Amino acid sequence: MDIEIQLATEEQKKQKPADSVLEFGKKFTDHLFEMEYENERWGTPRIVPYHPFTLDPATTVFHYGQEIFEGMKAFRHPDDSIHLFRPYKNAERFNRSAERMSMPTVNKDLFVKAITELIRLDNEWTPNSPGMTLYIRPTMIATEVALGVHPSNRYLFYIILSPVGSYFKTGFKPTKVYVASTHVRATPGGTGEAKTGGNYAATLWSQQKAKNKGYPQVLWLDAIERRYIEEAGAMNVMMVIDGEVYTPALDGAILKGITRESVIELARTLGYLVHEESIDINDLIAKLEDGSCSEIFCVGTAASITPIGEIYYKEKVYEVNGSEIGKITQHLYDELVGIQFGKIPDRFNWMYKVF
Ligand code: PLP
Ligand code: COI
Repeated sequence: MDIEIQLATEEQKKQKPADSVLEFGKKFTDHLFEMEYENERWGTPRIVPYHPFTLDPATTVFHYGQEIFEGMKAFRHPDDSIHLFRPYKNAERFNRSAERMSMPTVNKDLFVKAITELIRLDNEWTPNSPGMTLYIRPTMIATEVALGVHPSNRYLFYIILSPVGSYFKTGFKPTKVYVASTHVRATPGGTGEAKTGGNYAATLWSQQKAKNKGYPQVLWLDAIERRYIEEAGAMNVMMVIDGEVYTPALDGAILKGITRESVIELARTLGYLVHEESIDINDLIAKLEDGSCSEIFCVGTAASITPIGEIYYKEKVYEVNGSEIGKITQHLYDELVGIQFGKIPDRFNWMYKVF
């Protein structure tokens, strides 16, 4: 499982951006990891200088979307060490996505080793400003050249790194969500639970519509009854009702968020009652109106914990907690982010030291 390494030359190395100008996912580091699958086996794992791919126009990923990815972050701690958050969870989900999309799985230890080796090499790109991280994007694409619809016989697994600031321009401030009432993201038996590009392509129409109305995220409802809350475009969702935390139960159409799972565990440890159950958007609206729903927040790797201050549903706008960050949201944020950045002890053993 040795990874071959070809270092970038001084000319190939890029200028590192200052932390202050970082946005989400616009800059990439000097190296990438790549490994090809052919003849039913994976080839040599390699770390090489960051480079574009040359692909035939008939490559299957372009036509039928056989693609999966993951989203992870590396956090710099006060002693300058760098840590991943539960990387084996991402390796496991990557393989579940691979199975759903008829793609080969990747050895989990190699998945994590590839990331740690790549970060060791490009570690200077890990920001050290508050809230900033090195975002990790493991990806697999189908690379057979053919137009027939069938699982590809060749794949490319690669990992790129991107130093990032906040996912939302507003940072840890309440954002606004637009409830999609005419379109759906995923259906029972579909691919909602897999982290595959097509799930995101399907959301862009509504996302654009939301953006035009001033809403940076879409909140999705279930495909059958169009009333049960599922998740936001890039995050799972949680709400506080009568002081207890609620989040939609996993139904096969929702992404099994690693932040979601961690926040549930964290909240329970902190003494909050957490319920995983179906939540009807109409009940939620009623609870916002009578004041029993006091907080809504989203959770995800890119978005961390993001408070929601406003919901748009069927031409009406509902404010959440006077658009202020709620107490429980803030508590969970401080604990989760504190653990991730090494500011408070990691009593769950979630952090994985890169070096
Ligand atoms: N839901 C969707 C659709 C996502 O893209 C993400 C981000 O990965 C999440 C939820 C949150 O998952 P995680 O916490 O594992 O990042
Ligand atoms: C993440 O949170 O890592 C994601 O993958 C969400 C994304 C699509 C930006």
